[in-house]
Amino acid sequence: MASAKFYFIFLLFLLPYDLHLATAQNNGTVPVGATLTAGTESSPWLSPSGDFAFGFHHLGEENNSNDLFSLSIFYNKIPEKTVIWYADNEDQNPAVPRGSQVKLTADQGLVLNDPQGKQVWSSKIDIGAVAVGHMNDTGNFVLASGSSSRLWDSFSNPTDTLLPGQMMETEQGFFSQKSDTNFSRGRFQFRLLKDGNLVLNIVNLPTDLAYDAYYISGAYDFTNSSNSGYQVMFKESGYMYILRRNGGRFDLTTERVVPAAEFYHRAML
Ligand SMILES: *[C@@H]1O[C@H](CO)[C@@H](O)[C@H](O)[C@H]1NC(C)=O
Ligand SMILES: *[C@@H]1O[C@H](CO)[C@@H](O)[C@H](O)[C@H]1NC(C)=O
Ligand SMILES: *[C@@H]1O[C@H](CO)[C@@H](O)[C@H](O)[C@H]1NC(C)=O
Ligand SMILES: *[C@@H]1O[C@H](CO)[C@@H](O)[C@H](O)[C@H]1NC(C)=O
Ligand SMILES: *[C@@H]1O[C@H](CO)[C@@H](O)[C@H](O)[C@H]1NC(C)=O
Repeated sequence: MASAKFYFIFLLFLLPYDLHLATAQNNGTVPVGATLTAGTESSPWLSPSGDFAFGFHHLGEENNSNDLFSLSIFYNKIPEKTVIWYADNEDQNPAVPRGSQVKLTADQGLVLNDPQGKQVWSSKIDIGAVAVGHMNDTGNFVLASGSSSRLWDSFSNPTDTLLPGQMMETEQGFFSQKSDTNFSRGRFQFRLLKDGNLVLNIVNLPTDLAYDAYYISGAYDFTNSSNSGYQVMFKESGYMYILRRNGGRFDLTTERVVPAAEFYHRAML
């Protein structure tokens, strides 16, 4: 019986830095009105520990007239600034040119404009006004209201990666990226179906038609839905499982995992 661990790529990174190095005082808070511009020296918005950064990630080769960037969250302390989330436009294309700007606004949250001032992406706040942004040490970028309720967060809008502490509900899912350097939508899809079943399938591009799943968790019960799954959990400890409505677990990681205190864990499609 094939298990899901063969389909996820678990990449583990040793922390190659001295934890006692002094860092600038920072609490991860981003005020409304703050901006970042792609390709400038403006430093990204860091989590309190500095492990995660929110900012522009350089895509592809250095070429000053044709540079492309993606608005991303990435590991900030390792030499390979591995991206774990990115903002993508309607065509699933996250690449924006040098000079593009992101601004934290009260009404729309994060707004990404190209150098001509045309909006290419926003975090789309349904109700309420954003009072503050926060780059959390878990890797989650959170927009909160004045009463601290969560209006938007990157964990609820996954791109191609899940991190420890992240959770996925039924009818949520995401796609792989095309390649390491091209973040356009790839052919692989990860979904937790309405019935609680986790499936992996290939989609036909560009029609978006989903082919039959090549992995089916089987974590559902037609006769008794309390036995069916309803959330994919990736725990801080590094374990991943489907939580059933009755509280039971369907394990996705079957091996003992290495301590999350010593390694970065990520699950990437
Ligand atoms: C975080 O730092 C900013 C500026 O340094 C400050 O205005 C804000 O009150 C701090 N927030 C918390 C929760 O400590
Ligand atoms: C940048 O790349 C474009 C095509 O990708 C090329 O036409 C142009 O000459 C390059 N510019 C520099 C300065 O290398
Ligand atoms: C922020 O990070 C802390 C641990 O660093 C975690 O306990 C908390 O749940 C996180 N909050 C959000 C909204 O992700
Ligand atoms: C990335 O892939 C898409 C879809 O195949 C293509 O349209 C686009 O030109 C590619 N972008 C780059 C920078 O290669
Ligand atoms: C459904 O399964 C639960 C155990 O998960 C059990 O307690 C319950 O009695 C079952 N309900 C029916 C209608 O069989």
